[in-house]
Amino acid sequence: MTGNAETIIYEDHETDQEAADAFGERMVDLLNSGALSLMLSVGHRTGLFDTMSDMPPATSARIAEKAGLDERYVREWLGAMTVGGIVENNAESGTYYLPPEHAASLCRQSPTDNMAVFAQYIPLLGSVEDDIVHCFKHGGGVPYERFGRFHDVMAEDSGQSVVPALETHILPLVPGLTNRLGQGIEVLDVGCGRGRALNRLATLFPRSRFTGYDLSEDAIRYASQEARALGNNNITFKVFDVSRLELADKPGPYHLITTFDAVHDQRDPLSVLRGIRKALADDGVYLAQDIKGSSHHHGDRDHPIGPLLYTISCMHCMTVSLAQDGEGLGAMWGREKALEYFQAAGFRTIDVHELDHDFQNYWYVCRP
Ligand SMILES: C[S@@+](CC[C@H](N)C(=O)[O-])C[C@H]1O[C@@H](n2cnc3c(N)ncnc32)[C@H](O)[C@@H]1O
Repeated sequence: MTGNAETIIYEDHETDQEAADAFGERMVDLLNSGALSLMLSVGHRTGLFDTMSDMPPATSARIAEKAGLDERYVREWLGAMTVGGIVENNAESGTYYLPPEHAASLCRQSPTDNMAVFAQYIPLLGSVEDDIVHCFKHGGGVPYERFGRFHDVMAEDSGQSVVPALETHILPLVPGLTNRLGQGIEVLDVGCGRGRALNRLATLFPRSRFTGYDLSEDAIRYASQEARALGNNNITFKVFDVSRLELADKPGPYHLITTFDAVHDQRDPLSVLRGIRKALADDGVYLAQDIKGSSHHHGDRDHPIGPLLYTISCMHCMTVSLAQDGEGLGAMWGREKALEYFQAAGFRTIDVHELDHDFQNYWYVCRP
């Protein structure tokens, strides 16, 4: 051995058989949960959960007929749902039933979040597994275009986790904001995706003017179509690279700038934040939703959805940034690093909020 290299000797210890058995059981449990997540996604996309939520106990043939699907596939799916404890199966009558207590977390009309929407992330990420494995070996990243259904799933996600809470929980985080929006201000949403949140705000506040920027042509086309369908004529969506905001001659002034889950996967997040600071009026507010987490792995051990978020980060948020030779911050950049970046971009006052119903995000209210 040369230089100052340190030799660490790990003491041999006997395997604790009980711990090994318990871990083995947990691995089996994980396999089953992973498989069920795929089937939850299928149940959501095919409308099977919605169909079953309206039905008394019924045979696979009846369920398939009502859902307009192929009976053989529906029956096999019902098998997975039965052994997974999601659907009840009566062996004598050969019927299946989705109890209302389960339907509450699995249907589009759910009073609470529809968990089947989030289950879609598993197959979405699985669809780029080969590309990700390639990156593990050779570096680089997987570009946005490879994630076929990303904007679809993201819009459904924010459509249920952000949009319904805008009026009741999110806007009140900034005192006086609802009034100012009612009177008429300029609003910019950076990385707006399919624009669900911004379209909702434009409908609620017809005297304000709204602009949404995103890199994705597909997302902007969808957002503009939705604006037309809603009759929102106070909103403009534009394909624009928001890392160029900093360089724009006259990017503002905006009185409110928002990012909904749109900083950490940027190629150059600090440039984007500096651009936001530059585009903000002196009395303006920047409201940022970003993923709740610590900047240290050990700080996220008790995070209720830590494994899911780290997986999404590795297989989407981090890699789409690296694909552009970007920083690759990842979704779990964490509160400490986020505060560092907001300060470096020139924000002097930053309040961090948590919302009772939302264990996934921090809400940062930043002022110049
Ligand atoms: C995680 S998604 C969030 C989308 C949307 N805000 C929502 O909550 O549904 C991040 C968005 O940022 C967009 N984006 C990433 N880099 C961008 C850039 N440089 N300029 C504009 N948009 C960008 C992506 O296309 C994507 O729509």
